[in-house]
Order: sequence, then structure tokens, then C-alpha cells
Amino acid sequence: MKRVFITGASAGIGLATAKLLAGRGDEVWGTSRDPSRVPELPRLHAVRLDLSDNVSLGENFQIALREAGHFDVVINNAGSGHFGPAEHLSPEAVHAQFQTVLFSHIELCRLALASMRAQGNGRIINVTSLASRLPVPFMGAYNAAKAAMASFVLSLQLELAGSDICVIDLQPADISTSFNNAVARTDGGDPRYTELVEHAWRMVEQNMQAAPKPELVSRRIAKLIDDKNPPPRVTVGGTFQAAIAPFILRFLPQRVRIWGLKKYYRLPN
Ligand SMILES: NC(=O)c1ccc[n+]([C@@H]2O[C@H](COP(=O)([O-])OP(=O)(O)OC[C@H]3O[C@@H](n4cnc5c(N)ncnc54)[C@H](OP(=O)(O)O)[C@@H]3O)[C@@H](O)[C@H]2O)c1
Repeated sequence: MKRVFITGASAGIGLATAKLLAGRGDEVWGTSRDPSRVPELPRLHAVRLDLSDNVSLGENFQIALREAGHFDVVINNAGSGHFGPAEHLSPEAVHAQFQTVLFSHIELCRLALASMRAQGNGRIINVTSLASRLPVPFMGAYNAAKAAMASFVLSLQLELAGSDICVIDLQPADISTSFNNAVARTDGGDPRYTELVEHAWRMVEQNMQAAPKPELVSRRIAKLIDDKNPPPRVTVGGTFQAAIAPFILRFLPQRVRIWGLKKYYRLPN
């Protein structure tokens, strides 16, 4: 039985994971901005947590930690995105996006590491995104923040060498969740982008609808928790997005990669 802290347990990947882990006997502390959205299940403890404020995030993590005694596993999962031209992102919008999927995730790593150092071991699973390597058009700040988090995790992996603390970068491709429902979509008030944004959004929606269910990711997370020697980076999703495309694109020159991504999203060349 593990003691697990997971953010974003009210929907999508986090909800599927919290249910799977609590269902198999782990004790799970699962977060939401509104704890009543976390289902009432045996061994699933609802925690209030908002990614937009590191101070309250820290306070709520410590409350859960005191209740749990310790966490064997911390899963940095909660997040949301935006959709609009990078050219028109305000500094405030970039900062808000970075806060939601980078600064708060780094802070949770820091807090988790402090408690895991004290107990001598632990596992942190960071849900970044395949978008960190294969960016989605009109999600500039999201792509950048996810890439920064992937890089931060890699730094931790180097620096935690010799410790019994393991940090994993889990990169989902498209997964069919409610993620897009929370996405604020705009053309930035620029008619040059209106059609492109609409077009790319249709592709993103289409991909999301055809994507695997979040249970695919939750099963992978359960394996990563159990694995004695888990891989440092894992991609989860449909075969084309998660296996074939990253493999092919890895060997291509950047010009061809950009061409391929434009073709995929049916953007003009
Ligand atoms: N779905 C995909 O295709 C996909 C692909 C790659 C990566 N990801 C990543 O996977 C993670 C989970 O996404 P999902 O697809 O499962 O999305 P989802 O179904 O929309 O669930 C998002 C979860 O995050 C929580 N959350 C969102 N904004 C928050 C905030 N500001 N403060 C606190 N909690 C917040 C939500 O809780 P409340 O609203 O109840 O607070 C909810 O539980 C995210 O980090 C996302 O970037 C998803």
C-alpha cells in the first residue's frame, strides 16, 4: 500500500488515476480547487488546492502531508491550457499559464523533495506533455511551459543521482478528457488569425475526440509506481502520436519537422 498525493483528481487523467490507485488499496490524497468535485470513495481523501497561488498550494500540501504522515508518491498532474496566437499573448497571460503548469509544479516538486529527503526515499511523477517536444499550434505558452518543466525534471534526474528519490517525466499525447472545455480560445482580436485558429482548433478537437481514454494513462502511472527501475521519461497515447511520430520526427531536420507539424494540423506552408 502506497501513500499518494495527486493534483487534479476531479477530472481526466488525475481522476482516473486516483480511482485506480484507491481501488487497488493505495491511500490517495487527491486535489481540486473545489474538493466536492473529488468523488467520495474509500481511501480517496479530497484536498483543496489551487495552482494559481504557490503559498496556499504549500499550505494545503502540508495539511495533507500531516494527515498522511508521509507520501511515497507525489503526482504533479493538474493543469489547463490556452488557445490563441503566440504573437498576441499578453505578459499576464504567459505568466498565468507558466504559473499553472510550471511554477506550481516546480514548487510541488520542491515540497515533495523536502519531505522525501527526510524519509530517505520517494517517487515524483510529473505529467508534462508530448507538446513539450511536438508543439501544438496556438498553445505557445503552454508548449513552452511544458518544455521547461520537462527540462527541469531532467535537471532533477541528474542532481538526485545517488539518492533513493526517483523523478519521472510522463508525457501524454492526446488523451480524451475534459481538458479542452477549460481552454480559453481567442484569435487575439486579429482577423489574420481568425480562420487559422478556428481551423487548428477543429483539428485539436478532432484529435481529442479520437484519442485514448485517460485510463490508458492511469494504468501507466500505476506501473510507474510499482516498477523497481522506472524509465525517466514515458510517452503515453495513441500509437501514431505517442510512438510513430516522435520516432520519425527525431531524425528529421528542423525544417522538415515544422513542415510535418504544419501538414498534421493542416496549416498553410
Ligand atoms: N488531455 C490531454 O490530451 C493531455 C495531453 C498532454 C498533457 N496533458 C496534461 O495532463 C494533465 C491533466 O490534464 P487532463 O487532460 O486530465 O485535464 P482535465 O480533464 O481538464 O483535468 C484537469 C485537472 O486539473 C485541475 N486543475 C485545472 N486547473 C487548475 C488550477 N488552476 N488549480 C488547481 N487545479 C487545477 C482540475 O481540477 P479542478 O478544476 O476541479 O480544480 C482537474 O482535476 C495536465 O497537466 C495536462 O496539461 C493532457
